[in-house]
Amino acid sequence: MKLSESAGSETTGSSQNGVVASDTVLATFDLDVRYGAVVALEGVSVHVGKGEMVALIGPNGAGKSTLLNTLSGIKRPAGGRIVLNGKLAHVPEGRQVFPELTVEDNLRLGAYRGGSRDPGPMYELFPQLQRLRYRPAGGLSGGEQQMVAICRALMANPDVLTVDELSQGLAPLVVSDIARHLVELNRQNGTAVLLVEQNAQLALNITSRAYVLENGRIGMEGRSSDLISDPAVRAAYLGGVR
Ligand SMILES: Nc1ncnc2c1ncn2[C@@H]1O[C@H](COP(=O)(O)OP(=O)(O)O)[C@@H](O)[C@H]1O
Ligand SMILES: [Mg+2]
Repeated sequence: MKLSESAGSETTGSSQNGVVASDTVLATFDLDVRYGAVVALEGVSVHVGKGEMVALIGPNGAGKSTLLNTLSGIKRPAGGRIVLNGKLAHVPEGRQVFPELTVEDNLRLGAYRGGSRDPGPMYELFPQLQRLRYRPAGGLSGGEQQMVAICRALMANPDVLTVDELSQGLAPLVVSDIARHLVELNRQNGTAVLLVEQNAQLALNITSRAYVLENGRIGMEGRSSDLISDPAVRAAYLGGVR
C-alpha cells in the first residue's frame, strides 16, 4: 500500500516512540486533513487492532470519508502520522464498481497489488456472485454491487478492510446479510475492519469498538456496547430512544 510520504507517514510498524502496540494494524496520530482552506480533519487519532472490528460513526460532513480516503492514500494529510502494519484495502463510498466489466474482471482487478487472482474464495464468501460472474457489474443490484466491491477489496488479501457506508442505498435485509458476511469474514480470516456507517445501530452492533467523528474531530470513543447505551449517542445517532 502506497501511503502519502508527506507528514511523516510510514508504512511499517514503529516502536520508535513506543506508542504503536504490536497488535495494532492501523493507527493515526494527530492527523490533519484539509481541502484548501477547509479543515476536514483535525488532530484525529484512531487505532485498529489486528483482527478487530471498529466502527466510525458521525453526521454527514464529519470527515468520515476523508479519513478513509487518507488512510487508503487517495488524499494526502496536511499533518500527523499514519502507521500501517500490513495491507489495507478500501471499499469506497458508492461502491464504484467498473460497470462495463464483468463481476469476475472486477474481482481480478482487486488483486493488482498482490494477492491471489483466483476469485474462487470470493464465491465461497458470497455464493450468489458465482452465477453472476460473467455479467457486467453495472447491471447488478445495489446489494450485489456492494458484494462485488467488498470482494474486489478482499482479493488483495488485506490485513485491514475499510468500508465506507456499507448500507447506503440498500434494503435493510440486504444490509444485514452483507453485514453478517463481514462478521463471518472477520471471525474466519481475522481480517480487521474499519466500518464507516450512517446506521449507527448496525455499526455498533457488529463492532467491538467505535469512534464518533464530529466536525473533523473525535468526539467520543469506546466499546461499542457502551456507546450504544450512552445517552448522548442515543440522542444524536440512535433516534433519541432512551
Ligand atoms: N473534495 C472536496 N473538496 C472540498 N471539500 C471537501 C471535499 N470532500 C469533502 N469535503 C469537505 O470535508 C468535510 C468532510 O467531508 P466527508 O469526509 O465527505 O464527510 P463524511 O464522509 O463524514 O460525510 C465536509 O465539510 C466536506 O464538505
Ligand atoms: Mg462520507
